[in-house]
Amino acid sequence: MSKPKALVTRRWPEACEAKLKELFDVTFNEDNHPMTAEELKDALRNYDVVMPTVTDPITADVLSAEPLRCKILGNFGVGFNHIDIEAAKARGITVTNTPDVLTDCTADIAMLLMLMVARRGGEGERHVRSGEWTGWHPTHMMGTKVTGKTLGLIGFGRIARAMAKKAHFGFDMPIIFFDPYPPPREVIESLEAEQCSSIEDVLRRADFVALHCPGSKENHHLINAERLALMKPTAFLINTARGDVVDNVALLEALRNKTIKGAGLDVYEGEPNLNKGFLELDNVALLPHLGSATLETREAMGMRVIENVTAFFAGQTPRDKVV
Ligand code: DGY
Repeated sequence: MSKPKALVTRRWPEACEAKLKELFDVTFNEDNHPMTAEELKDALRNYDVVMPTVTDPITADVLSAEPLRCKILGNFGVGFNHIDIEAAKARGITVTNTPDVLTDCTADIAMLLMLMVARRGGEGERHVRSGEWTGWHPTHMMGTKVTGKTLGLIGFGRIARAMAKKAHFGFDMPIIFFDPYPPPREVIESLEAEQCSSIEDVLRRADFVALHCPGSKENHHLINAERLALMKPTAFLINTARGDVVDNVALLEALRNKTIKGAGLDVYEGEPNLNKGFLELDNVALLPHLGSATLETREAMGMRVIENVTAFFAGQTPRDKVV
């Protein structure tokens, strides 16, 4: 039997590309550029499987490609808000994602951002590199203590729970959360977490608010000006979920006016073209969407895509079937 014809939209770690070559008649996007809508449409016309990432908007228009050859989108990533799932379903295309394998590394980045912004890590590093540092003194770069402060999680899925574990058992942080679909009681109890009745409740009470809800139409600007206004002036917002879960203009205003103390961001509306206003502020720590960016995790993500797609072509239901 001939190998399925596969297109991988961005370059993957070496070990995964080697595996792809074994199992598929594979084409790589050699120069690793973000693909255009027309290129993606062509991919759906010419390949049995396309393996996209968060940088590939697979819109209803892309999915209207004719004639359609693609049978499965093996997404490299857990989030799939860049794929129009309903349109994929309507065209009979299976979609898979890569949960679990990136949970800890993404939670680590949320912890890093929390520490960076509260303890002024990025600012301090810039200070040393610029040559402006003149030495230790008692009031130099005082930040906010993290240990013992309340962490509020919006969304209590895998990544939020991994962060809760690190923060509660490592940093003595009381955990509060809101999730419309909470995990079983024993999971909540094992993390000694408190379930809140609303997002507003979390925002009012938390010293650090970390966002762990999926990107979706429903969650677009979930954190808007009105909700930001509920946060304590001493509180910090951490976003490792999706940029558009937060109204970035409203957040910038809150940071400029110091109605909240700071923010740690790994994701942005319209990334990589983030609102340039963030670059002017010291009370925000900025990372370039690094959540899952470790060699171990990226290899595990690639292998998980391969496992899902291989199962599909063997006539099985892929382990991480979204639709
Ligand atoms: C994910 O896995 O969702 C990462 O954000 C990259 O897409």
